[in-house]
Amino acid sequence: MKVIKTIKELREILKEARKNKTIGLVPTMGALHLGHASLIKNSTKENDFTVVSIFVNPTQFGPNEDYNKYPRTLEADSKICEELDVDVIFSPSPDEMYADQNESTFVCPAYSDINKLCGKSRPGHFDGVATVVSKLFNIVKPDRAYFGEKDAQQLFIIKKMVRDLNFDIEIVPCPIIREKDGLALSSRNTYLNQENRKRALKLSKALFTIKEMSQKGIKNAEQLVDTALSILENEDVEYFEILDLNKFEKIDTISNESIALCAVKFPQENGTVRLIDNIKL
Ligand code: PAJ
Repeated sequence: MKVIKTIKELREILKEARKNKTIGLVPTMGALHLGHASLIKNSTKENDFTVVSIFVNPTQFGPNEDYNKYPRTLEADSKICEELDVDVIFSPSPDEMYADQNESTFVCPAYSDINKLCGKSRPGHFDGVATVVSKLFNIVKPDRAYFGEKDAQQLFIIKKMVRDLNFDIEIVPCPIIREKDGLALSSRNTYLNQENRKRALKLSKALFTIKEMSQKGIKNAEQLVDTALSILENEDVEYFEILDLNKFEKIDTISNESIALCAVKFPQENGTVRLIDNIKL
């Protein structure tokens, strides 16, 4: 396995690989956990050559977000990738990726798709995501790219971007990996103090509870949201919404094409930790 820092070097290796191999790309920001590992395993299973990108992308962080303190653990990440038979880690510097972070060309998803859920509280976030993912697609030119359902709005936006901009790439969605107690794995879980780690369980509890209710025949979205919010009582809920899975628009009555999504903030001494989670109903 090689760890590559420059676009030029990566392009040379991929030019050779592309002659007779299919290429899978797993874009990440590092601090790899079992959620990332499941994406990587899918890629190595379905492709001859897997590239994992590890890049904490500055353009998707707001000015008051955790860009500087985001965990950077390249050594540990390399070990994980090595064990998972990854062929190449692409780990560029911000300067390698952006000549000028403020004055470059950006890819901006539709306003109606970003003016909701995470995009509403994180202005510019999905422009940064769509831009860096487009750049990675152009650099790697993969046959398939792997994204987690954990970041459901991100996955929705990337799928739409691929359609809208005619990228010749198959987007492969991968299910959410959770801790035994239900908490969805996230690099940001490492920030949580002991008390908030316990309170964070309310996200998955609220989602599991309303899924069970919906399976028992309760289809009224408002009733399900109210139940979820009562489980999350006393927590700083940024949003809890039930949407149509394909259009990402609010619905009143759920079907088997519905998704419940939430974001909850946990203030603590070293800054607020914001967690997201979702479930298909
Ligand atoms: P990052 O948060 O590192 O996540 C990389 C990929 O891992 C994303 O597709 C995310 O959905 C997936 N993932 C994270 N936790 C998961 C879990 N518990 N189960 C399944 N998949 C999980 O998302 C990003 O990085 C960035 O925005 C990126 C796409 C790399 C662009 O910078």
